[in-house]
Amino acid sequence: MKEQYEKPPELYDGLRLHQNENTGGCSPYVIQALAGLTRQNLAYYPPYAEATQACARHLGVPFDRVMLVNGLDEGIMSASIAYLRPQAGSSVVPEALVPEPAFEIFRFDTGVAGGRLVQVMPKPDFLFPLDEVLAAITPATRVVFLTSPNNPTGVSVPFEAIRAVAAAVPPQAIVFVDEAYADFAGRSFIPQLPAFPNVIVGRTFSKAYGLAAIRIGALVGTPAVLDPIRYATPVYSVNIAAVVALLAALADQGYVDDYLRQVEASKALLYAACDRMKLKYWPSDANFVLVRVGSRIEEVIRGANERGVYLRNRSTEPGCEGCLRIATGIVEHTKRGIAAIEEVLCGGA
Ligand SMILES: Cc1ncc(COP(=O)(O)O)c(C=O)c1O
Repeated sequence: MKEQYEKPPELYDGLRLHQNENTGGCSPYVIQALAGLTRQNLAYYPPYAEATQACARHLGVPFDRVMLVNGLDEGIMSASIAYLRPQAGSSVVPEALVPEPAFEIFRFDTGVAGGRLVQVMPKPDFLFPLDEVLAAITPATRVVFLTSPNNPTGVSVPFEAIRAVAAAVPPQAIVFVDEAYADFAGRSFIPQLPAFPNVIVGRTFSKAYGLAAIRIGALVGTPAVLDPIRYATPVYSVNIAAVVALLAALADQGYVDDYLRQVEASKALLYAACDRMKLKYWPSDANFVLVRVGSRIEEVIRGANERGVYLRNRSTEPGCEGCLRIATGIVEHTKRGIAAIEEVLCGGA
């Protein structure tokens, strides 16, 4: 058995700042829409056209460029199976290139698909290692996984780097740009896709839209690059609750805008707290911040936990020794997270 993804423990009785979720919950209109589902709605296989159209309009692309997925996780798994599965009769082992630190799922899905993982190690301050990524591309490269803003660092990948990688990969390869946190960065590679038909952008409604439990995301790309992924995905993997929730969430953009404002205010509060505590952090384009606590990290995570606040230890990720990741969403929640860390580190200073 290969190494498996270790899910974070199921902790629901405290403040969940450890999974980059929207701790304020989704738009109330989503709950209303779900309550409007009928017995018949649940009895039929779900229709996708209206939600796909709404998503395409939201992302500013034509209908045939969008594939809804059961969470971006499914999009990553299906893309891995489509592009990293060894082909019958070929001696090539398809390679996935992953600049580290990265969302762990890329590693696991590459293994599930039967591909070979090629990791590129981080540079100081997580500056994008473009030369190293370009040097790691081989004729067997089939997927380059880039995440912008990156998880767990919050650092964005420059567009020039994405363009350079897209221009350098072999013709059978795709560049998978994971934009799970792009809503917070306010910038996306999607407008550039027409010039880069080998790039797929992955989006999720788990984070800014607060729909992580519903499982809804989207892949954006040309029909030519999406077709092999559709082939590798269960036909009705997105359920009717996700369809209805997505339509309601997209119609309530004001709700998301308010959350985005809170994320910005929260990050400013956390940066100030880190400066007070003399902790190194990396300015983040996402809804979380990576903070270097150092040798007291276990104590901080345990102490915060005892105060009902969950934080994520990212120490085992390359370049992240002694680092924890803290979600910065609802301002009141960020204040509680900061207070817990300060109490543990400085005795409540
Ligand atoms: C970079 C990245 N991609 C994808 C996902 C998964 O998103 P979803 O909830 O849509 O499966 C996450 C979730 O944490 C993530 O951090």
